[in-house]
Amino acid sequence: MVKRIIANWKMQLAVPAAERLATALVRGPRTKAEVVLCPSFVALPAVSAVVHRSWVTLGAQTCGPADRGAFTGEVSPGDLRSLACQYVIVGHSDRRAFGETNVEIAARLKAALAAGLTPVLCVGERLAERQVGRSQAVVAEQIDGAFRALPAAKRRRVLIAYEPVWAISPGGPIQPDEAKAMARFIWTHLKQRRPLTYGGSVTPANVATYVDGVHFDGALVGQASLTLRALRALADA
Ligand code: PGA
Repeated sequence: MVKRIIANWKMQLAVPAAERLATALVRGPRTKAEVVLCPSFVALPAVSAVVHRSWVTLGAQTCGPADRGAFTGEVSPGDLRSLACQYVIVGHSDRRAFGETNVEIAARLKAALAAGLTPVLCVGERLAERQVGRSQAVVAEQIDGAFRALPAAKRRRVLIAYEPVWAISPGGPIQPDEAKAMARFIWTHLKQRRPLTYGGSVTPANVATYVDGVHFDGALVGQASLTLRALRALADA
């Protein structure tokens, strides 16, 4: 069963469109899975007002590495909490592509936890890394880098999302068995068996093939989270 659908709207929706989609969603019946909307920062206040006291939860797409300070262009995780965000995506491959490093991701993760947010840490190899057999090494490095400064109790509060970068639309998808094999590798690496989140070309038609409740209990979804029909279908799968 799908426990959680995290809708990563990236920079895809203008503010009025984000507000409309959120409004249409909250007006409908509660879905089987939790739905976490992650709008752009400028759309967050409007979407926050729409989902306030509804069954829909809210997240952000990244957060700053501290709560206050001289961090031009960053957004305070405490401010995200004030807007009723419960989740924050950290280390998405779009951001890693802009040069975000594991060290920076570790700082964002720490600040997110300190503010009381549940971070969704994205890890995943690029195609060139997979082709030379480095998938596991890359994912291990990303997890270790992000977790370095965190005590075990805090690490357990982080949701880990496996997103093979090449499988994110318009690429992909990965074979479900390959994604599950990576989940088992991550368990071994963490010395802890816990369901992860899967991301990369997830659709209503394929979500159940990844999210089996054992390896993965939720999905991080980009493209298919942009329409009401697909979003509801994902969360009722
Ligand atoms: P996608 O994006 O579902 O469009 O592949 C997933 C993501 O980038 O988080």
